[in-house]
Amino acid sequence: MARLAPSILSASEEKFDEQMKLIEAGGADLIHYDVMDGVFVPATVNPIPVKELSKKFKLPIDVHLMVQEAGDVIEQYLSENTKYITVHQEACKDLKAVIDKIHGFGVKAGLAINPDTPISVLKPYFKDIDLALVMSVFPGKAGQKFIPSALIKVCELDELRRANNYAFRIEVDGGINLDNCEMTKKSGADILVAGSACFGAEDIKKRCEDFKKIIK
Ligand code: DX5
Ligand code: ZN
Repeated sequence: MARLAPSILSASEEKFDEQMKLIEAGGADLIHYDVMDGVFVPATVNPIPVKELSKKFKLPIDVHLMVQEAGDVIEQYLSENTKYITVHQEACKDLKAVIDKIHGFGVKAGLAINPDTPISVLKPYFKDIDLALVMSVFPGKAGQKFIPSALIKVCELDELRRANNYAFRIEVDGGINLDNCEMTKKSGADILVAGSACFGAEDIKKRCEDFKKIIK
């Protein structure tokens, strides 16, 4: 079974609470929480504070920091429900220190890689991380087209962790929809992020249920 993590980047500001209840009712497993700093990626996105989200909803929060030197801002994303904090391999100088800092707060640590970053850069951290996030679009905005070569990386990561008994989960983020979620899961992904495919649906609850049926 793979898990579904709708990205609140695509949620409506006006109908936020209502839409969040629909993804909960539809069986979403995690809330994917995107942060952009205008430096690592061109856009700036600071969603509703994570502590507020944690008070209002029960789902675990999966923080994805598209932020240069994200280690400096980890504290802002701690809450009762914060489960993962993921930083970009490309954006931090001392990745081991950032992973240790996240773990020091009792939170699971993830490393993300862009579509043009090879999985080999993660090798020194495989035994330390809880999550490897494979971007299937270039980070920066929702609604982009899935880059299929991401699946090769997912297969390779899955093989590597089986061969070496690594415990990290594999997450795929960007352009996931009802047509490509099954092959993404079959490639070895444990968590699928879906922004526009969840929040852009006419019937958000049903869309989540449809995802869950396919990736179960
Ligand atoms: C992209 C973000 C994604 C994005 C996914 O920079 O990290 O989480 O919200 O949105 P969709 O599913 O629409 O590609
Ligand atoms: Zn994301």
